[in-house]
Amino acid sequence: MKITVVGAGAVGATCADNIARKELASELVLIDIKEGIAEGKALDLQQTASLLEFDTRITGTTNDYAKTAGSDVVVITSGVPRKPGMTREELIGVNAGIVKSVTENILKHSPNAIIIVIANPMDTMTYLAYKNAGIPKNRIIGMGGMLDCARFKSYLSSELKCSLNDLHAVVIGGHGDTTMIPLIRMATLNSKPVPELISEEKQKQIVADTMVGGATLTKFLGTSAWYAPGAAGALLVEAIVRDQKKVFPCCVYLDGEYGQKDICIGVPVVIGKNGWEKIIDYNLTSDEQTLFNNSADAVRSMNSVLETLV
Ligand code: APR
Repeated sequence: MKITVVGAGAVGATCADNIARKELASELVLIDIKEGIAEGKALDLQQTASLLEFDTRITGTTNDYAKTAGSDVVVITSGVPRKPGMTREELIGVNAGIVKSVTENILKHSPNAIIIVIANPMDTMTYLAYKNAGIPKNRIIGMGGMLDCARFKSYLSSELKCSLNDLHAVVIGGHGDTTMIPLIRMATLNSKPVPELISEEKQKQIVADTMVGGATLTKFLGTSAWYAPGAAGALLVEAIVRDQKKVFPCCVYLDGEYGQKDICIGVPVVIGKNGWEKIIDYNLTSDEQTLFNNSADAVRSMNSVLETLV
């Protein structure tokens, strides 16, 4: 198995670190446009191998896509992160150009790769990659919902004082501060519905905190987060390379599912060796469907900006 991570910045390096620790590949390539950064991080990571006991061979390259040839899975993290006060959507101008050229370069050398998009605004970048790539829709997956879900669970477990492993929760819709939909109605702790365990006021607070989860971190850090995005990217890679058939909320191309067409947005999907293999229908209530439709409208209007850019 060969995996490439594009962008050796904070998210890319963290994702690569997790991929190596999990031994998901025999070969892992880091590629970045900035001279030396991918080589340096790859060498540093490679030197953790005897300490962390993995056998993955990690190499880095400055923009030489020939070295990524034959990759089975490619994770795109290249792009600018947001600064405090910025929305993910404000990154579109710069990141669209980057994601477009990266997708083209990757597919030239790895025509069968499954592509995971992490760069923001993630829904629009996934749509751009899909439209540009000309490969089956199942091979393009945006990671955002998994990260939102991890944050949702983290806030829920703090309130419920429970193990994260006993919680089930899902976030659908766009990966934006105003577009994501933490589905608290469906959250459960050991099969018990969460709304039966915490007050309505607390539920609203947790949903609100989840939605601005990324912005909260950006305020602390001065840039966007990397540990959870990198770990979520690696978990998605793991489900693919181990053909786990796990259900994750991911951004995929919809063709009528959830009442939407010609858009990439977060829905629960089965992940396995073919990429996303099936969309799970959660039978939304009419209020949830309205939220989903509004989220899709916002994502679609962001997608329309692409026409003026690339
Ligand atoms: N090709 C390859 N690498 C590129 C390119 C390109 N065309 N353009 C930029 N990069 C690299 C940068 O040189 C940098 O090393 O992408 C890396 C981005 O790393 P950081 O600036 O540390 O950003 P990071 O925090 O990793 O976020 C990357 O993920 O979560 C999202 O919103 C975030 O869109 C952002 C992306």
